[in-house]
Formats: sequence, C-alpha cells, structure tokens
Amino acid sequence: MKNILVTGGAGFIGSNFVRYLLENEPKLNVVVLDALTYAGSMENLRDLPDGSRYSFIHGDICRRDQVKETMQEHDIDTVIHFAAETHVDRSILGPAPFIETNIVGTFNLLDAARALWLEGSNAPSSSFRFHHISTDEVYGSLAPDDPAFTEITSYAPNSPYAASKAASDHLVRAYSQTYGLPITITNCSNNYGLYQFPEKMIPLMIINAMAGARLPIYGDGLQVRDWLFVLDHCEAIMLVIRDGRLGETYNIGGMNQLTNLSLVEMICSILDEILPESPHRPHSQLVEFVQDRPGHDRRYAMDITKINQELDWEPKETFESGLRKTMEWYLNNPSWVSAIQDRPTHKDWLEQNYAIRGETK
Ligand code: NAD
Ligand code: TYD
Repeated sequence: MKNILVTGGAGFIGSNFVRYLLENEPKLNVVVLDALTYAGSMENLRDLPDGSRYSFIHGDICRRDQVKETMQEHDIDTVIHFAAETHVDRSILGPAPFIETNIVGTFNLLDAARALWLEGSNAPSSSFRFHHISTDEVYGSLAPDDPAFTEITSYAPNSPYAASKAASDHLVRAYSQTYGLPITITNCSNNYGLYQFPEKMIPLMIINAMAGARLPIYGDGLQVRDWLFVLDHCEAIMLVIRDGRLGETYNIGGMNQLTNLSLVEMICSILDEILPESPHRPHSQLVEFVQDRPGHDRRYAMDITKINQELDWEPKETFESGLRKTMEWYLNNPSWVSAIQDRPTHKDWLEQNYAIRGETK
C-alpha cells in the first residue's frame, strides 16, 4: 500500500479519514477525488498535516475516463471509496443522483481497478485493495427486541439511498467473485463528529439550538440509531484494510443505541450547561414534532462481534465525550458553519425539506 485514492475525501467521513491517514500513516501518499457536490467542501481539507503527501483532484466518479486517468496517473494501488450521495431525505425527494453516483460511479471505479490492476499489471492482485464504505441501512429496519444486524443479515433496503448502497455493495462483491478483484467492505452505523454537513441530524440540532431555531423531530422521535464517532470509524477502516480478510464484509457500530428524542434532549441539556447565558435555555423548549419521513426505518443496530474477534476492534469514544467534542467544535467554528448556511442551495434545501413537514403536536 503506497498510493491511496480516497473518493469523496472532501465530505464528512472522507475528510476525517484523509486527516487520519496523514497523521498515522507516514509512508502513504493520499489522492482525493471529489466532485465537490453540495456535501463536499475544500474547507474540510484545510490545514492538513504533511500536505506534501496529499493531492486533490476535482473530479466525478460518474466520468469513467476521469476515474481511470486519475488512477493511472497516480499509480493508485488502494481505493477507499466513500464518494456517494448520502442523505436519505434527499433520496426521497430526488433519487436520480443516487443511482448515478452510488451505483454507476461505483461501477466505474470497480471497472477501472479491474482494467488497471488485473489486466494491465504484472503485480500480484494481493498488492492492491478496493475498500468500499457502506451502511447499516442496507439491512432494513429492526423491531425493538430484534437482535442487531450481522454480516449475514439479509439485505432489505427501504429508501432509495439504502437501495442504491445495497446495489453498490452487490457490485463490489460480484467483482471479487467474478474477476478476483481484491476487495473488502465495511457497513457502518450512523457517524457523528467534526465536519459533518449541517443538514444531518446531529449538526442540524446543535446549530439550530444555538440559534434558538426549532428542533424538528420526525414522527414520534422514538426511532433508534447506533451512533459511531467518526474517528473510531476511521480506525476500524484502517484495520480492515491492513488485516481484514479479502472478499469479506465487516460491520462497524458505535455500541450507542439511542432514540432520536433522547439524543436531542442530550444535546439540549449539554448546551444548557455550556451556554449558561443563552436566551434560549432550556433548549428543549425548541423541540417540535414534525411530519415523519416516508418509509422511516425504526431501528438500526450493529453486531460488531466479527470485527471485534478477528481484528480486536471496538469503539473507544463514549457517546457523551464524543458528543461534547462535536458540540464544542461546532461552537468554535462559526465561520465553517456560516459558509455553508450562506449558500443559496442550503437555504433551498431547508425550505424544501421542512416546509412540507409542518408541526404535528
Ligand atoms: P458526505 O455526504 O458528507 O460526503 C460525500 C462526498 O462525496 C462529498 O465530498 C461529495 O462531494 C462527494 N461526491 C458525491 N458525489 C460524487 C461524485 N459523483 N464523484 C465524486 N465525489 C462525489 O458523506 P459521508 O457522510 O462522509 O459518507 C461517506 C460514505 O460513508 C458514503 O459512502 C456513505 O454512504 C457512507 N456512510 C455514511 C454514514 C454517515 O452516518 N455519515 C453512515 C453509513 C455509511
Ligand atoms: P440522518 O442524519 O438523516 O441519518 P439516517 O436517516 O441516515 O439515519 O437522520 C438520523 C435520524 O434523525 C433519522 O431517524 C431521521 C431523524 N431526523 C429527524 O428526526 N429530524 C431531522 O431534522 C433530521 C435531519 C433527521
């Protein structure tokens, strides 16, 4: 492993992973390929440690020629594939880009890797790796007492986003089975942490609460998510790339199952404590129940026995400490937040997603 291509490296998890690589892997060169959609930002890649080992390509994984050229030019031996359309609500209002990027884009990367590594190289296939980042959402929804998802749980995606990720997972698997492409896949639960785009649940609630804006809870707020701190996720990915078995899938979870309502209450009470002068205290008064998301999955939970037993990984961050770090970062980086809030596309999204919902209680 020498030259790593990180697709989607200007997004939330990708940018955290690029920083993690440059800090922890002194021998690696990192190339980011990112289309800088609404979710990507060069601000996420500012002040990187040891920037001489990093380069950025503004490019689109939906363009086959560009994908292959980038891999060829930079002599890429490892692909870590984060690039995707990622927001379930956006996939409901407009699924087309999810099909293009998540399915066709993944196909383009796989096919370029096949051409360059298996057909265009004399090096053994074991000197390459295609690592695909997927999600717990491909497994569908759990009832309150169901056991957590394992790597052999059947796929049952419920949103266009989840279906497009499921399709991409199947393509990755097929390239391993059919052509012998050296792949690994990780399916992770909901991430949170620094640099998460402010339309996702945790940053949205932090930013709205600080500003005294409403905290829109979909439905009854009793949906459960298993929150994973992004740096724990980065560490798990690196372990899988180094020591994971080829062709295998590993589930990664945070061991933090919480209802959306209790999560928002936790954010409110931490803000009450760290902003004692805020005119919006108690912040929980800002909670509003709004119309639910169609097809809203009730509960996700990951069984991490496999990665724990094979690779000795478990999350290190407690939810309380990870949430506090995250909240402090949003409080201390108002210019990062306002640069996104000032974009007309961001305002349009908030209008489009929340105007239709209205208050229900
Ligand atoms: P994000 O939305 O923050 O970032 C996605 C990045 O991909 C952006 O920088 C965007 O510009 C880029 N991108 C989008 N389309 C592209 C294209 N056609 N070509 C090149 N770049 C493109 O996403 P994230 O939250 O960092 O998620 C990263 C990966 O992790 C995704 O594959 C997602 O499905 C998966 N995942 C995320 C979570 C989560 O909680 N965030 C949970 C499970 C799985
Ligand atoms: P999200 O961050 O969109 O992740 P995902 O849908 O992929 O799990 O949402 C997390 C949970 O929070 C999900 O159950 C939907 C809910 N949610 C709200 O209740 N209100 C909101 O404004 C948002 C964005 C999400």
